[in-house]
Amino acid sequence: MADSAIPYDVVIIGGGPGGYNAAIRAGQLGLKAACVEKRVTLGGVCLNVGCIPSKALLHASEMFELASKDFAGLGIDVTPKLNLPQMMKQKAESVTALTKGIEFLFKKNKADWIKGTGKLAGPGKVEVTAEDGAVTTLEARNIVIATGSEPSTLPGVTVDQKRIVDSTGALELADVPKSLIVIGAGIIGLELGSVWRRLGAQVTVVEFLDRITPGMDAETAKTFQRSLTKQGMVFKLGSKVTGAKAGDAGVELTVEPVAGGPAETLKADYVLLAIGRRPVTEGLGLESVGITADKHGFIETDHWKTSAPGVWAIGDVTHGPMLAHKAEDEAVACIETIAGQAGHVNYGIIPSVVYTFPEVAWVGKTEEELKDEGRAYKAGKFPFSANSRAKVNHEAEGFVKVLADAVTDEILGVHMIGPHVGEMIAEYCVAMEFRAASEDVARTSHPHPTLSEALRQAAMGVEGWTMQA
Ligand code: FAD
Ligand code: NAI
Repeated sequence: MADSAIPYDVVIIGGGPGGYNAAIRAGQLGLKAACVEKRVTLGGVCLNVGCIPSKALLHASEMFELASKDFAGLGIDVTPKLNLPQMMKQKAESVTALTKGIEFLFKKNKADWIKGTGKLAGPGKVEVTAEDGAVTTLEARNIVIATGSEPSTLPGVTVDQKRIVDSTGALELADVPKSLIVIGAGIIGLELGSVWRRLGAQVTVVEFLDRITPGMDAETAKTFQRSLTKQGMVFKLGSKVTGAKAGDAGVELTVEPVAGGPAETLKADYVLLAIGRRPVTEGLGLESVGITADKHGFIETDHWKTSAPGVWAIGDVTHGPMLAHKAEDEAVACIETIAGQAGHVNYGIIPSVVYTFPEVAWVGKTEEELKDEGRAYKAGKFPFSANSRAKVNHEAEGFVKVLADAVTDEILGVHMIGPHVGEMIAEYCVAMEFRAASEDVARTSHPHPTLSEALRQAAMGVEGWTMQA
């Protein structure tokens, strides 16, 4: 525990991707920094119960499904048997290795980890309550709030982490459910729904809207839904859940059409509630420095500054996409600004990835956004069915779509669905950061035969000279 008499340059509340990157960057810039985190490990939601464990299960379950269904076609005859405890163990080992890695980086960069629950206690003061109840007050020239987010709740559907789970519970099921109902066709629902479907569950997704994944380019979302349906996921769109009854044997859900009509009862072994996340600001002492969270609980900021002098906020607790890399980018920019440098985040170029199969990845504007803005654009599109590497890998579903300004040819948005697009989207992020024209990508040599050729072909399609088949 740090000496409470030492004033810090920066005290950060929360040790997730926002908080831990802020602490490490502060250490690198020679600022005396402490990060207050109440979990037993650093890394926040992302490393402990979010990005990392979900991707560990997505990878393992994809391997299981490939071995079960696709290996035979490649001439590999195997009969895979699921070992769920081992799948969970390897997931836990990855999480531990990565959270320990953050602890190591704290030591390397001389940032203190103060274990406990932090609370603002007036200008320049953070009160920390340790697990044993001991209270320490840290003094800081700057305070960064990085308390993140938690699952949103739904009246009538009580999460008990036994039969009705949130994302954290869905990462820890002890058995493969025969049936799973997911409430919310967003990223969590479709990623974790995919995990359990691949392992053998019958998955039904109940979504309020008449489409899946709001925010995703509509054409891409339609293709995505078709693909997940082909895999066996069942969608009930335009439906609202009005109640849930959990018992020892399973859950009964009452579902009504949003447009009106008779209610129906759906039964399943488990229900996953995944209808979004809300910022964590309760009990944080915001009033002690004169900050009021907005009606959704978010802290308003201007270049990571809150309305209170010397108090900053980053990551999921602020507006914008609730993504780990957004929190990380803000952490670096915020600390650099505190250190007197020119912190910068390009909010127009924060990519999104859904780590299902096929993957979905996008950056920049959707077609719907460009139409709403009345901006003239050209589109180039290339299907993976015409890409040689995708064909030989038997992964030829999906497409790449490039949207470019009709006059300047500057790339405005890119939308991909297909194999490994989550890795490939970064090529377009770099291009867009340099404000490239689609022709710049179209005339850049790409290795053959690779999936990345589809990225180039889509750019060539903007001027109508796509040629690969
Ligand atoms: P968090 O990671 O939420 O960290 C905040 C930390 O603050 C927590 O550890 C919390 O314990 C601590 N804290 C809160 N209040 C206090 C307090 N008063 N005192 C001390 N400590 C406190 N994003 C991606 O980009 N890619 C993905 O693949 C991805 N997958 C996800 C999968 C799931 C299942 C979930 C739930 C989320 C996923 N996300 C993903 C989102 C990502 O996890 C978040 O955007 C990211 O963690 C936000 O970082 P943060 O630092 O703002 O907050
Ligand atoms: P989400 O916002 O992505 O999707 C929630 C879905 O639930 C929406 O489709 C919404 O219309 C629907 N919904 C809302 N209320 C409903 C109701 N009452 N009944 C039925 N449907 C309802 O939220 P989700 O999936 O919970 O994820 C939260 C956030 O976590 C994401 O927005 C994302 O920022 C982050 N995340 C990112 C991942 C990634 O980058 N791969 C993976 C997982 C999470």
